[in-house]
Amino acid sequence: MKLIDNQANIQAIRTISSLFKTASMEIDELLSAMINTAREMVAAKNASMLLVQDDKTKKLQYYQASGENMGQLKDIEIPPGVGIAGTVSKTGKAIVSNDAQNDPRWYKKVSEEVHDQVESIACFPLLLDKRVIGVVQFFDKQDGAGYSEKDVEILERFANMIPMFFQASKSRQVLGQEFDRLKEKYMRRYMIVGESQAIKKCITLAERLADSKASVLINGESGTGKELFAHLIHDKGPRQTKPFVSVSCGALPASILERELFGHEKGAFTSADSGKIGLFEAAHTGTLFLDEVGEMPPDMQVKLLRVIQEESFIRLGGTETIKVDVRIITATNRDLEQMVREGTFRQDLYYRINVIDIKLPPLRDRKEDIPDLVAYFIKKHSPHRRRTDGNEGPATKKIGKGLLSHLMGYSWPGNIRELENTMERAIVLTDGDELTPEAFPFDSQDSPIEVNVGASLKDANDAFRHTFITNTLKSTGGNRTKAAKILNVQRSYLSRLIKELEID
Ligand SMILES: Nc1ncnc2c1ncn2[C@@H]1O[C@H](COP(=O)(O)OP(=O)(O)OP(=O)(O)O)[C@@H](O)[C@H]1O
Ligand SMILES: [Mg+2]
Repeated sequence: MKLIDNQANIQAIRTISSLFKTASMEIDELLSAMINTAREMVAAKNASMLLVQDDKTKKLQYYQASGENMGQLKDIEIPPGVGIAGTVSKTGKAIVSNDAQNDPRWYKKVSEEVHDQVESIACFPLLLDKRVIGVVQFFDKQDGAGYSEKDVEILERFANMIPMFFQASKSRQVLGQEFDRLKEKYMRRYMIVGESQAIKKCITLAERLADSKASVLINGESGTGKELFAHLIHDKGPRQTKPFVSVSCGALPASILERELFGHEKGAFTSADSGKIGLFEAAHTGTLFLDEVGEMPPDMQVKLLRVIQEESFIRLGGTETIKVDVRIITATNRDLEQMVREGTFRQDLYYRINVIDIKLPPLRDRKEDIPDLVAYFIKKHSPHRRRTDGNEGPATKKIGKGLLSHLMGYSWPGNIRELENTMERAIVLTDGDELTPEAFPFDSQDSPIEVNVGASLKDANDAFRHTFITNTLKSTGGNRTKAAKILNVQRSYLSRLIKELEID
């Protein structure tokens, strides 16, 4: 298994984790470090924390703020139920809004003084023994996108940890464990699983070119991990702490895609009552991932080519030339060369984006990775709940008899995404603690083995075993230990069969 992590973020968690376990840092410093780490992990611009001042009025007061002027904030008091922070404090329930200005709960008074033009806010209650002791809030993502489900999940975990700091002296150890869990969960997001030659070649190439700024084209069928690899290249390179901005060129009509990419000035089109920066600007110093680039309309292809060549552009309705430093990674499941020949994709753009290309293999060509992937997805999708043995921890299911060979017999047209979704469903739907082939209702025989009528039962049996073992060995790249595991037999027995059936 290959571990790809986002070094900067992991490092941040490690730092806090070790500080907390060993040093006797002041609680203020710890909280400030903690909020900043959370903010950086989701690339939010600002964060602040407010505490309930007293049990009677329950008014909130600023306690910590990053990226903002604390001096301006310390005299502000927010009554319960007022504004987003007040509502969260009153109800004890988080609020995430990606359109804060139009949210009726948005508190104009504070916003006008300090948070100008906030678009997204994620605000969480700080609960200690079911009592709200304050709130922590995060404003606007650096790339201008709203908070995703993953972001919210990460922030919520941090918010849940903060109250523990107030009991710090009592429960340092508990917190250390919670950090470890968070770390593990975060690292898993960036894992690329696979030991096959085919995938290892791709990983090595991606790591090697991470340091350069060369444009990369990632090609592969749907679900082969194109987006995952784009992240890998970004995370392994010098831009890892800078924005990673992603856009799907196939999902948007040409006119909207253009605005999204280049931004616009106020009045550029009928509904543009304010200006907005585009994704090229948002990705400045970082990486722009253009997914489904093969779907890009022809006139957008010309415009894209121009920015890549000139490293500058003009916003819609603007006059000023804006310079950007952006690394371009593109992905497609289409055959761009064929499209160039047919005249549907510009040849000049193709050469520009295809300085280096990574071709991700379909899962059917690296079936030997299925056992590792299966183990990984079982871990990833096991619910975090109390186990029957009373211990805290994930209730992971075991791999039942015949499961791996069943899964390896299928051709996985939807590749790893299909395998992951299928595994997730089976884990949810299986009551017992073992996953069996029945939980995966597809016909796993791609090519039935032909045995002519008239042969003896022993010959038919041998023919079947010959083909079956040969195919399994092929899928493991000739690795007998792995093949024996899949076939669920002893390695020595497999060797005997190989000899007996004259498999070479
Ligand atoms: N080698 C791998 N190890 C672990 N997980 C993987 C691997 N490859 C892909 N995945 C997982 O499979 C899913 C699909 O991957 P991803 O979205 O990167 O594929 P894609 O090629 O971009 O697909 P599409 O063409 O449909 O957009 C994701 O959940 C991803 O985390
Ligand atoms: Mg994708």
